[in-house]
Amino acid sequence: MKDAINKFPRYPLLPESTLVTKLCRLPKLVKNANIYIKRDDINYLGGGGNKLRKLEFYLGEAQFKGCDTIIAMGAWQSNHARLSAAAALHAGFQCELVLGKKVARDDHDYINNGNNLLERAMGVKIHTLDSSADLMQYAINRKAELETQGKKVYIIPFGGSDALGSLGYVNCAFEIAKQEHDNNIKFDYIITPNGSSGTHAGLIVGCKLLNSTAQVIGYNVLAPTDTTLPTTLKLANEILELLGHKPTITPEDILLNENYLGKGYGQPTVEMRKAIKLLAHEEGLFLDPVYSGKAFAGMLGDIEAGKYLAGKNILYLMTGGTPGLYAYQSEF
Ligand SMILES: Cc1ncc(COP(=O)(O)O)c(C=O)c1O
Repeated sequence: MKDAINKFPRYPLLPESTLVTKLCRLPKLVKNANIYIKRDDINYLGGGGNKLRKLEFYLGEAQFKGCDTIIAMGAWQSNHARLSAAAALHAGFQCELVLGKKVARDDHDYINNGNNLLERAMGVKIHTLDSSADLMQYAINRKAELETQGKKVYIIPFGGSDALGSLGYVNCAFEIAKQEHDNNIKFDYIITPNGSSGTHAGLIVGCKLLNSTAQVIGYNVLAPTDTTLPTTLKLANEILELLGHKPTITPEDILLNENYLGKGYGQPTVEMRKAIKLLAHEEGLFLDPVYSGKAFAGMLGDIEAGKYLAGKNILYLMTGGTPGLYAYQSEF
């Protein structure tokens, strides 16, 4: 199965596997649940986070095509944009970011701190667009402009979530299976935030290819289920097709919970704040306010509500994003 993925060019950004550990203290407060965490947040490069797995494939393709410049898009405090810039620079590309003010926050930290601070430190060119702007159209126009200057430009899709980038999370499912085997454990639930859906869709496809019985559950952080489900379903089937399989994922395979999204993308919730403080206080680990904090809050709420069967093993994917905490200073 790995051979089908290894056919795609890749620029390595991660070690062979990310750490899995069991939480010790926090579970005592939530029904003694068996909660494990997979550390995709560890700072291998650029502050760390889930997008590195996707970027391996985009940078591999960009190198293969002989490109010299990367354009990435995202919201103003996008982790994806920050990591695209870090990975692109690491691989020797020039990089420009197209950022839209998608979240109605204009306090000093949101504008200047967090991911923005790191992007300024990296010295990449940032194009700032208002909330209604079409980021992709802007990126396409900028690509054309740079190409008249002799550059060869590669545009990374929104969120790194097309079939190619999502292969990173098919691989992650294979990696989890190997860790299960090596450590003689079986994860019954795998939990992730679902934003642009590539992480969730990749894990679903990986588990399907492995015939795993684990339930892969996504907590919506970008949009409600009526839009996130069709997006995730379509993407999961596109990934299967890219790997030469029939598109066999059905709506029943897409497990989503929109109850912790709150008022929308990047909008803080009471549960998110509580979850971030709880994990920090009990375990010394940091979540982020936009993605992992909401998903972790959802997982805790659903454990309390009895939605995860007692005694089963839960694997929570720590997807990163901690620089976002500095942008939300006023919430804590
Ligand atoms: C920290 C973090 N977690 C989760 C996600 C969601 O991943 P996806 O966009 O693949 O759904 C993102 C997306 O930007 C992220 O930055």
